[in-house]
Amino acid sequence: MKFKEIKEKSSEFLFQNYGRIDLAFTHGKGCMLYDTEGKEYLDLVSGIAVNSLGYAHPDVTAAIQEQASRMCHVSNLYYVEEQAELAERIASITPGNLDRTLFCNSGAEANEGAFKTAVRYTGRGKILSALNGFHGRTSASLGATGQEKYRKTFEPLISGAFGYFEFGNCEQIKGMVDSDTAAVIVEPVQGEGGVRTVPRDFFKTVRDICDEKGALMICDEVQTGIGRTGEWYGIENFGVVPDIITMAKALGGGLPIGAVTTTEEISSVVTPGTHGTTFGGNPMVCAAGCAVIDVMKRDGIVAHAKDLGARWREDIRAVGSPRAKEVRGYGLIIGIEMDSNESASHVQKYCRDNGVLVNVCHGNTVRLIPPLILSDGEKDRFTALFKECAF
Ligand SMILES: Cc1ncc(COP(=O)(O)O)c(C=O)c1O
Repeated sequence: MKFKEIKEKSSEFLFQNYGRIDLAFTHGKGCMLYDTEGKEYLDLVSGIAVNSLGYAHPDVTAAIQEQASRMCHVSNLYYVEEQAELAERIASITPGNLDRTLFCNSGAEANEGAFKTAVRYTGRGKILSALNGFHGRTSASLGATGQEKYRKTFEPLISGAFGYFEFGNCEQIKGMVDSDTAAVIVEPVQGEGGVRTVPRDFFKTVRDICDEKGALMICDEVQTGIGRTGEWYGIENFGVVPDIITMAKALGGGLPIGAVTTTEEISSVVTPGTHGTTFGGNPMVCAAGCAVIDVMKRDGIVAHAKDLGARWREDIRAVGSPRAKEVRGYGLIIGIEMDSNESASHVQKYCRDNGVLVNVCHGNTVRLIPPLILSDGEKDRFTALFKECAF
């Protein structure tokens, strides 16, 4: 189908809830995407931090094909081999004794599962989260999202269970956690909030105050998890082990999956009948997830993300753009905060016109969240374009 026809049909039959860019793709290979007109793009967005192994990775493709040829779905009424296999692999990459996993279908759903677990475990009803954070679009994950623009008009669906603190403010969080607090949820790096980072001691403070007051620390690793930051989980950059990790995005190699991982003790409160989902952890997505983790381990992808990301941030800083206020991030989640929304959009458009896709988040921040298999040559392509358009 030609692009014009796809756009017309989309305008006629879909909810118009996305501000879409005028592009549609037919396929990808590695870090490259191909549009309906046959034009090739270097993709530094990877489906918003999903396609960490790029497009059509041979091992992931083979795992999906093999699984599809036998069985895509079977109910959680029965034992599911692929689910057990993936949970074991997740236990092998999570810090501490976080080795029990509950599967679901998205990041928002993983956070909902974490909140329900925390409320049941503590017998308390309050969830605290950071201003400028993002935790998803379902009722409770929206409630935990400390940005009013997302919650506005949906308040009737959101309970009074949520409170917000300034991301990085140690004194404030110390004063807010009390005997009503079930959990504090944090992103190690605020992704949608503009690739925001905070000093190391903040996460240690959250850990300590949660321990002191008997609340759980939930780490939302939906965007930062599975190697993105140069560690398997973003929180490992700060030497802190949370009580619960939520993940999604990159785990399924492009198939929709979410997961909540915690300790055996905490998981034990989620008894039969208290939580569940039809599709959660079905054989198809779990087979893909197993292949993703196996390939990442085999090919040293996490260490590669750390090394390439650190050098890339230096390259971008060395460009010396007067319009770039700050270059932030860990591993291959990089934010270039520009001096205005217009500057960020200009970089995005210039790159797109020259065959490179980047994302803008929080209005003024160019976000680079490429496949983790990105090469040096591919990273340099963006840096060269940035040099041409950021002055
Ligand atoms: C940190 C974080 N949490 C939760 C979500 C929601 O995930 P999903 O869109 O899969 O529901 C996102 C999505 O961008 C995210 O970045």
